[in-house]
Amino acid sequence: MILYRLNTIGHIVKGNSSSVIMNQLRKLSHLHLIKQRAYVDGKWVGASTEKVFQVSNPANGEILSEIPDMNEKDVEAATKAALTAFKKWSNIRPYDRSKLMRNWFDLMVKNQETLAQIITLEGGKPYAESVAEVNYGNSYIEFYAEEAKRINGEIISGTQPTKQYFVTSNPIGVVGLITSFNFPLAMITRKLSAALAAGCTCIIKPSTDTPLTALAMAELAHQAGIPKGVVNVITGSHGSNASIVGYLCSNPDVKGISFTGSVEVGKIINERCAPNIKRVCLELGGNAPFIVYNSANVANAVQSAISSKFRCSGQACVAPNRFLVQDGIYDCFIENLLVEIGKLKMGDGSHKDVKVGPLINVAQVEKIRHLVEDAVSKGANVLIGGRKAPLVGDLFYEPTVITDIRETMHIYREEIFGPVISILKFRTEEESLLVANQTDLGLAGYIFSGDINQIFRVSKELEVGMVGVNEGIISAAEIPFGGIKSSGIGREGGHHGLREFLDYKYICVGNLN
Ligand code: SIN
Repeated sequence: MILYRLNTIGHIVKGNSSSVIMNQLRKLSHLHLIKQRAYVDGKWVGASTEKVFQVSNPANGEILSEIPDMNEKDVEAATKAALTAFKKWSNIRPYDRSKLMRNWFDLMVKNQETLAQIITLEGGKPYAESVAEVNYGNSYIEFYAEEAKRINGEIISGTQPTKQYFVTSNPIGVVGLITSFNFPLAMITRKLSAALAAGCTCIIKPSTDTPLTALAMAELAHQAGIPKGVVNVITGSHGSNASIVGYLCSNPDVKGISFTGSVEVGKIINERCAPNIKRVCLELGGNAPFIVYNSANVANAVQSAISSKFRCSGQACVAPNRFLVQDGIYDCFIENLLVEIGKLKMGDGSHKDVKVGPLINVAQVEKIRHLVEDAVSKGANVLIGGRKAPLVGDLFYEPTVITDIRETMHIYREEIFGPVISILKFRTEEESLLVANQTDLGLAGYIFSGDINQIFRVSKELEVGMVGVNEGIISAAEIPFGGIKSSGIGREGGHHGLREFLDYKYICVGNLN
């Protein structure tokens, strides 16, 4: 029997090993980008304690890899490396930064199939969705590689003839980028590309559930020639997250934190960054209303509901959370929706015809189960699904539609993050807005209507950062992604996203003749 071990840079090679993951590694050995080390200062490294944790496939529980379970000491080393690298990276010509980012983009494109396979293996996403994520995520690198050349200053016309005013834009320094499991590639490129273009150096802490994609991306950044210390990836288990994130928030050498994740953790990060008045960009949860008015094209509304709700099995912050359907088309919408949901095949995302994959972990499955049970116990009706699917796998929950949702139910207020469509019927536009805005969260909202006046009225009144009009997929590299209320602070994407990583400096030249 051939055994495999890891060489010093984390590649799989033949040799002796007692690791429990050998079977899986053999299967994955063609995936040359699967790593078993973290990436710090241009080197593949283990944890200072040599501890490791396992990464598994949520579709079947198979162990994919063992990677370093790092602690504050490891983050300290990464911070020092990033600080040293910052001096050079922030001073090289933006055109050169752009070229290196473009090299990275080209390698990401060249390796897109492998990257998509890794996303499906560790995140459970159907393969076609993983390919779409790679394309989407790569578009941030391409966009910001161009933007790097357009970070300009200003000359301000002054009132005083002996003075000339200038404003320059400068990178804020070392930044911590903390990302979620649901888009393990795109959430990193959205932050990292903007930070690199601005001239910042980075310490990435990917989700504990999906770190392999981040490590593969680091390998490609390395191959692209991005200098050592500019991009660092620290990995840690669920038990280590608090100390890793706590260190990034409290170390004054880290000048900014950009976080994608839950509102609960976002609030803690905000508090921990406050003593140092650290820059924070928080992309947190949502409770998106999806409003279908009587004048809507029902077929489009149903297709959009499916694509936006079942993307990543409903585990997206922008996924619709409460469907509000007007009484005149209510029955027709539901009838068509049930037909489409009946077509969705659930299973292991590496199988071609699968449209809905597993949830990421047991906690997520249990959360969905509780939300649905609570709603049913308070009078909601399950039209399809409404239960776990143990015959498919431990982490699967059936695509579900429940109606008659009320304010007293947890599902009305909480982000579902799962494949459950919860529906309320409404009569008037005023009522729809009242319900839509009755939440602390304000990330995205969706309107389906054929009435242009209504579209403008409702878009204006919705208390959210992003509105989809007759469209369920609104994300793109060139737009400002982000929310209001408790859904976050700051924007990612577009030229707006650069601002999170830049400081202005005003220079006054005086006593001019
Ligand atoms: C998210 O909702 O978690 C991010 C999805 C996106 O960027 O489209």
